[in-house]
Amino acid sequence: MRFQTLDTIDVAGKTVLVRADLNVPVADGQVTDTTRIDRLVPTLTEIAAKGAKVVVMSHFGRPKNGPDTKNSLRQVVPAVEKALGAPVAFAEDCVGEKAAAAIAALPAGGVLILENTRFHAGEEKNDPDLAKGLAALGDIYVNDAFSSAHRAHASTEGIAHLLPSAAGRLMQAELEALGKALAAPERPVAAVVGGAKISTKLDLLLNMVSKVDILILGGGMANTFLFAKGVRVGSSLCERDMADQARAIMEKAAAGGCEIVLPVDGLMSREFKANAEHRVAAVTDIQDGEMMLDAGPATVELVGRKLEGAKTLVWNGPFGAFELVPFDSATNAVAAIAANLTAQSKLLSVAGGGDTVAALEHAGVAARFSYVSTAGGAFLEWLEGKELPGVAALEKHA
Ligand code: 3PG
Ligand code: MG
Repeated sequence: MRFQTLDTIDVAGKTVLVRADLNVPVADGQVTDTTRIDRLVPTLTEIAAKGAKVVVMSHFGRPKNGPDTKNSLRQVVPAVEKALGAPVAFAEDCVGEKAAAAIAALPAGGVLILENTRFHAGEEKNDPDLAKGLAALGDIYVNDAFSSAHRAHASTEGIAHLLPSAAGRLMQAELEALGKALAAPERPVAAVVGGAKISTKLDLLLNMVSKVDILILGGGMANTFLFAKGVRVGSSLCERDMADQARAIMEKAAAGGCEIVLPVDGLMSREFKANAEHRVAAVTDIQDGEMMLDAGPATVELVGRKLEGAKTLVWNGPFGAFELVPFDSATNAVAAIAANLTAQSKLLSVAGGGDTVAALEHAGVAARFSYVSTAGGAFLEWLEGKELPGVAALEKHA
């Protein structure tokens, strides 16, 4: 680790500014998925137990015009209190007098949430004055928001240069898991990359073919690869204008010794809806008007064999239209294979990004993966091989 952690920085008696990612899904003022909050709790509990004031900063949503109730962090306070099992104070601003007064009133060991950092335009601009104002509120900065680390904002990047800084336990766990999966993995390394479009994952695919030994493609993007190889994909989701890019990825893979695994069969249907009539067919047998909505059983078997031969798995994106039964079958089956190999200590499995967590939870196996990231965009940028500014800023301070 090239950064400090809660093992190396002394927080006792200090005011600790914790950058969390409380950007959680909310409906009718209620938090509908507490995963990010639950995973943050160990950091808050540890710092509080060491006798520090715990001051939590986060963004919420993407407000562009200052404060509004829809994006207020006040609505997540009850969910944090419930997860912590302790009362949590709230300040109506993340900077200035209101924040300072709330911190002054907070007892040692207490937890306070500051209002949405994005209510200030300086947050997303990484404005040095806002970073200074935030830093003035505390003695130590702890970043526990890996899922916001792809943003170079005042509360994720700027502030880290102004205070002694450390990674929180969640940030540390994310970076350790990702490091084991791609930086220094046990080989062979397999990646499952699914999802609808290759256009949104070009950088990711180009980076993955240079890092992993086996790249298993699923979802709509696999159709683009099949099309690029001359397969007739019928009415399947396919970015025909991306065929050249797909070929370039396959060429780079071949040159670097990365094996690309594409579906060999699928569930073909004429309708995009749950329980649509469908048939199992080889990918070379897609009829006009048919769509491949999921990979088929032969593909699941093939992918299962590849995973049995792998030591490490990185997973991003579903295999098929997993939100529509039965087109969740391949995602569920492959996820179960990966979870079982993980349970037998034969595979280290790390998943994250966008739909992935939802797909693995739907498959009922998320808890049996070695690590499931809380990050969406940050996980993808990390798979692209990009430096994450929030992590880089911590490293400079070690
Ligand atoms: C996320 O949910 O992906 C993070 O909280 C980052 O949010 P953003 O995409 O609005 O920066
Ligand atoms: Mg995002």
